Amino acid sequence: MRDPGRQLDPVVYLLPLRGYLGVTYLYAAFQKLHDPAFLDASASGSFAVQTAALKHSSPIGFALGPAHGHPLVFGLLIAFGELAVALGTLLGLWTRLAAAGGVALALTFYLTVSWNTDPYYLGSDLGFAVAFLTLALAGPSRWSLDTWLATASKGQAAAVRSEEFLPRRSSSSGDSRRVVLKRAAATGITGGVAMLGAAAVGKLGRSGRSAQSPQAQLRSNANTPNATNVTAPGLEIATASIPATGAARLTAPSGDPVFVARTADGGYKACSGICTHAGCPIGVDQAKGVLACPCHGSTFDPRSGAVINGPAKDPLMAFPVSVAGGVLRVQVPKT
Ligand code: FES
Repeated sequence: MRDPGRQLDPVVYLLPLRGYLGVTYLYAAFQKLHDPAFLDASASGSFAVQTAALKHSSPIGFALGPAHGHPLVFGLLIAFGELAVALGTLLGLWTRLAAAGGVALALTFYLTVSWNTDPYYLGSDLGFAVAFLTLALAGPSRWSLDTWLATASKGQAAAVRSEEFLPRRSSSSGDSRRVVLKRAAATGITGGVAMLGAAAVGKLGRSGRSAQSPQAQLRSNANTPNATNVTAPGLEIATASIPATGAARLTAPSGDPVFVARTADGGYKACSGICTHAGCPIGVDQAKGVLACPCHGSTFDPRSGAVINGPAKDPLMAFPVSVAGGVLRVQVPKT
């Protein structure tokens, strides 16, 4: 019979958390590195375009200037930051540091991409921040590289002490040095393997451009001639260029997309291309005749701006239009 006073090893509690956080961030990092549109500043839905839109909708928009100015550098920093957090969490290597990095990334995502999600619990980033904080407070458990390396250096007596957490004090400076050196070696090996994996994933993404995911295809479509992507100074477009179904894409001076479409009564409609769910730039799916958000899948009717499928609840912002001499003019408010 089980001893009622016997407690489950705390390590069991942390493993599912580490596994979920690590796998999810690994997936997110590889998804970014595999998607050629993410680092392509001209692609709708790219890091550069999203940052431009988030500057206006995020409470920390004032701090996004450097990311907006150097999208390639910051896009890569985010992808490789996610990769480092994922590997540290899964392997239990520099566990507390990796978890603290996870808190920082998740809070940044919450204050930018997820800020306008309503109610807040539909956005996952705040939950990730709290989960990483739990791991940062708990530290590495017995089944982690951190503890294994410490145990290997300190011998059996230290192994007993490290069953719950990392030893707070080393018994000798020699032990401490050995642990640091072994951790550095493990970090180097893990980093090398991760860089090889990331390079392979990035190469796959570039060579598979013609076989992109539907979301990536959607982003790219908005930038191809077939998608009637028109950048018009002053937001003008020849009415003949507006397709019978779907929409034509214009680019506002702010860099945000604006879509124009024909309405059922023979008129025209212009809508903001910023999703009302969490502020992602949306694209046009000409085949289905809808505007679609690559972030969480909301779709909108380009003829009215109304939501077809959520999680977005509010229609797209509409802009006044006028037609003269076969040219449609869209009045976009100054930002
Ligand atoms: S930002 Fe969530 S559906 Fe568009």
